[in-house]
Amino acid sequence: MTTTTLEIVRAAPGLSEYLDDVEELLERSVAGHEGVVAEIGADALAAGGKRLRPTLTFLSAPNGTRPSVAAGAAVELVHMATLVHDDLIDRAKVRRGRAAAWTSHGPDKARAAGDYLFARAFSELAALGDVNAVAILADSSLALARGEALQRRQRHDPETTVESYLERCSLKTGKLFEAACVLGGGSGDYGRLLGVAFQIVDDILDCAGDTMQTGKVPGTDLRDGTPTLPLLLAAEEDEVVRAAIAGGPLEGVLIRVAASGALERSRDVALDYATRARHSLAGDGRHVELEALTDAVVERNT
Ligand code: IPE
Ligand code: IPE
Ligand code: MG
Ligand code: MG
Ligand code: MG
Repeated sequence: MTTTTLEIVRAAPGLSEYLDDVEELLERSVAGHEGVVAEIGADALAAGGKRLRPTLTFLSAPNGTRPSVAAGAAVELVHMATLVHDDLIDRAKVRRGRAAAWTSHGPDKARAAGDYLFARAFSELAALGDVNAVAILADSSLALARGEALQRRQRHDPETTVESYLERCSLKTGKLFEAACVLGGGSGDYGRLLGVAFQIVDDILDCAGDTMQTGKVPGTDLRDGTPTLPLLLAAEEDEVVRAAIAGGPLEGVLIRVAASGALERSRDVALDYATRARHSLAGDGRHVELEALTDAVVERNT
């Protein structure tokens, strides 16, 4: 993300104190159990990350109010749980600049750690006694699982439509962004649209990002046969990219994707979602910062 837009977001009064409180609760929550799952959770936590979802929770709260710390911690815990599971599913070896949990602890322990983090998320939220909040988080977790299942069905399929790709993004990423905003008291539409833009940019960064900045190794989607927007758009014009998605040779394919203009075309789609997110804001929370975030999400390189 560029400093200008991100600085606007970070300067929101009260945000850094809120995130500090979220961090403290995350640490306490993850440490609330002994053993290897808690260790893996603590490692995931210590590796950092942008903490974008609790930031959304904070910024979505009506002006002059502060959302519960448990809500911000719960959305980040669900996110961390999905990352631990996701790397196992995607066979991705690096996360947040460190060895992914499954590579250092093995798949069984990583799976258990992901389950543990999910359970912690719900126990933090349940402690508030707000059934509606728990239902919102449960709904987004189910959507996540559906999104991952849809992605599995689309694997190695270069015929995947842009529409079904976007549906997958909405389920696996948009719905948790939506929950982060709704739990803060803001607009779900904004969150979902922003989440789709965010996932498209993630998929662009998987083609052309820099490990030093993303903390991940590029090319994971292509290696795994996951048809992302840049790969699908490039495949429309390039038989070699098409064959690669279907499981053919991968060498030189990311260079062809970049040369096809598909990265720019994908960015335009992300920009369109970010613009729609901005337009869906109707006096929500901290308007200026939420607006700035729609730029930051598309401009980001981390
Ligand atoms: C990565 O999310 C997973 C996606 C939804 C693309 P982030 O990019 O928010 O990951 P961290 O928390 O900053 O590491
Ligand atoms: C997002 O997709 C993962 C989830 C929403 C769980 P990716 O698989 O592309 O995320 P990264 O790139 O590994 O962070
Ligand atoms: Mg992944
Ligand atoms: Mg994945
Ligand atoms: Mg990715």
